[in-house]
Amino acid sequence: MAGGSDHSLLKDGLAQVQREVDSVFDALLPVPQDTRARLVEAMRYAAIGGGKRVRPLLLVSTAELFGVDRDRALRAACAVEAIHVYSLIHDDLPCMDDDDLRHGKPTLHKAFDEATAVLAGDSLHALAFEILADTETSTDPFTRSELIMTLGKASGWDGMAGGQMMDMMAEGSDYDLHTITRLQQLKTGALLAASVEMGAIMGHVPPEGRHHLRAYARDIGLAFQIADDLLDVEGDAEKAGKALRKDESQGKQTFVTLMGVDKAREQARALVDQAIARLAPHGDDARMLAAVARYIVERDR
Ligand code: IPE
Ligand code: IPE
Ligand code: MG
Ligand code: MG
Ligand code: MG
Repeated sequence: MAGGSDHSLLKDGLAQVQREVDSVFDALLPVPQDTRARLVEAMRYAAIGGGKRVRPLLLVSTAELFGVDRDRALRAACAVEAIHVYSLIHDDLPCMDDDDLRHGKPTLHKAFDEATAVLAGDSLHALAFEILADTETSTDPFTRSELIMTLGKASGWDGMAGGQMMDMMAEGSDYDLHTITRLQQLKTGALLAASVEMGAIMGHVPPEGRHHLRAYARDIGLAFQIADDLLDVEGDAEKAGKALRKDESQGKQTFVTLMGVDKAREQARALVDQAIARLAPHGDDARMLAAVARYIVERDR
């Protein structure tokens, strides 16, 4: 498999899913003709354009392995992305990371105001589950329920929000590598894993058939966060579109502070190789998932 063609596969895959996600959010978020307009404008500001859309690409690429209709998979992908976008809005608030820049433009609370940012986050959170409960996402009630449960668990105390809590407590802490790994599995890994899992759920893959995909998702989840920590240390803020060098200034333990830059990078690459090996049962059909895995550690934003 040629490296070059893999690169363009990924580039085209990301570009396509970015367009598709934008158009689904555009359709889902019509601006009302009353004073709620500000809220929906804020949701659109955060949800349309900007993000890499790694989670949607993971979901639709997994779903594609099992022949799921693309429009339906895209809706589920937007549900995950709605949670992700809400988490970034709240993550940037002054009471959390207090950031002014996201996706190369002012963060939501800077462009609007804090209260609007809180409500936009809340409403994107609710939207995610509304999308999944809709028959347009799946006509099968069991599938809808499993999708809702999977995203719910990945989002709350035993998922992303729980990881964010551990992350807040990491400031000035003496977390060891085991605890940092747990933190990252929740903060970042949970939603990435849910994306893969939900693709398999839509493909009616029984839980016992999902083990290798879960292992793939776990590996890339860790690699993704190691890459985020590396970017924080040595990335280009212009390209990243967000403030960097935050972890150190906040006194945060990360993979990089614990392992050092070289070992962290080595570890991320090893995880990606391992993740790709897990896709072997799917042969060439899993080329996109393999390309996403590689992109996760090679990205510059
Ligand atoms: C950034 O996530 C926050 C983390 C979970 C580390 P992404 O890097 O996926 O953010 P966008 O959506 O592409 O900006
Ligand atoms: C945020 O992690 C992860 C979320 C769940 C939102 P970070 O705080 O490291 O993300 P960035 O660096 O601001 O994108
Ligand atoms: Mg944070
Ligand atoms: Mg942050
Ligand atoms: Mg970060």
